[in-house]
Amino acid sequence: MKYRKLGRTNFEIGEMGYGAWGIGGSEWLGSGDRESLAALRRAIELGLNFIDTALAYGDGHSEQLVGQAVRDAGPRLYVATKVPPKNYLWPARPGIGIERVFPYDHIVGSCERSLRNLRLDAIDLLQLHVWNPEWIGRDEWRRAFQDLKQSGKVRAVGISINDHQPDSALEIVETGLIDSVQVIYNIFDQTPERRLFPLAIARQIGVIARVPLDEGGLTGTIGEHTTFPAGDFRNEYFKGDRKKQVQEHVASLSRDLGSPESSLPEFALRFCLSHPAVSTVIPGMRTLRNVERNCALPEQGPLAAETLAILRRHAWDRNFYD
Ligand SMILES: NC(=O)c1ccc[n+]([C@@H]2O[C@H](COP(=O)([O-])OP(=O)(O)OC[C@H]3O[C@@H](n4cnc5c(N)ncnc54)[C@H](OP(=O)(O)O)[C@@H]3O)[C@@H](O)[C@H]2O)c1
Repeated sequence: MKYRKLGRTNFEIGEMGYGAWGIGGSEWLGSGDRESLAALRRAIELGLNFIDTALAYGDGHSEQLVGQAVRDAGPRLYVATKVPPKNYLWPARPGIGIERVFPYDHIVGSCERSLRNLRLDAIDLLQLHVWNPEWIGRDEWRRAFQDLKQSGKVRAVGISINDHQPDSALEIVETGLIDSVQVIYNIFDQTPERRLFPLAIARQIGVIARVPLDEGGLTGTIGEHTTFPAGDFRNEYFKGDRKKQVQEHVASLSRDLGSPESSLPEFALRFCLSHPAVSTVIPGMRTLRNVERNCALPEQGPLAAETLAILRRHAWDRNFYD
């Protein structure tokens, strides 16, 4: 494992982090707690020390599993979690005021629920699970973040940016009042590179690259006839002819790289780590096989410029969360 500093914090976090949405047990199906915990523990053994979860993932279940693994592990680990929007609407909608989404008491109360689920003394990084730039001047988030930090319950604060809207975070990054942003960044969505990443570097704000494998689209395992368990969120994400579209994009990517589709996860994760603005990349990984493959990647360093040039051509402007 290799480590990078998360923005201006003193957190030295592993380049390979752990995305714990999949282990919540409610939206990603097809894997059990025993397998998830084994995967998470193996990742920790391999030097991974940054885990991203949320109160909303399985209504606290992901946090409970993360807390268990972290308490058992002993050495210093960093846990990031998120405050769900009070109206439970993802993404944040324009025109809906912060008083309906993140009132002060809701931010503080959610943080306390997360601490109980995690059974930890403090949360290393507390993030708002959606963000709307219309709330920039409001007191609710500023005061809640300040008070939670002062109380010692939270060490650092940040936001998780709405899907495919990296520029919606530019103003809050400029305030200097947050420590990190979490953003979709992958071979298909490279837009954070335009404005968000240069600003994050200039202001020393940590960047957590989420959905690096496009919810599985960049794993080379999705084909026209792939099925997911009933109730799994991916039935919606890859609905209609989207699996066929993904298959075509992935085939062309693999052809251009001259590498089999099975090697795409490696390219996809190293792509994220090749950008200097990125502090950590957080794939979901519920199996030992995926954990072991992914945790070995930081040692390989950034991709070569020629490879990055090929990947640049495969940006794909679309929003499958709609
Ligand atoms: N709004 C938000 O704040 C938000 C939204 C989405 C995600 N996130 C965060 O970002 C994290 C990552 O996103 P994600 O989990 O949704 O999707 P992702 O990381 O893009 O993709 C996860 C998928 O990739 C598979 N995978 C991982 N490594 C692989 C490998 N080496 N080879 C083949 N397949 C591999 C996983 O399989 P297995 O799981 O079966 O091993 C899983 O099916 C989340 O867990 C969550 O922490 C935040």
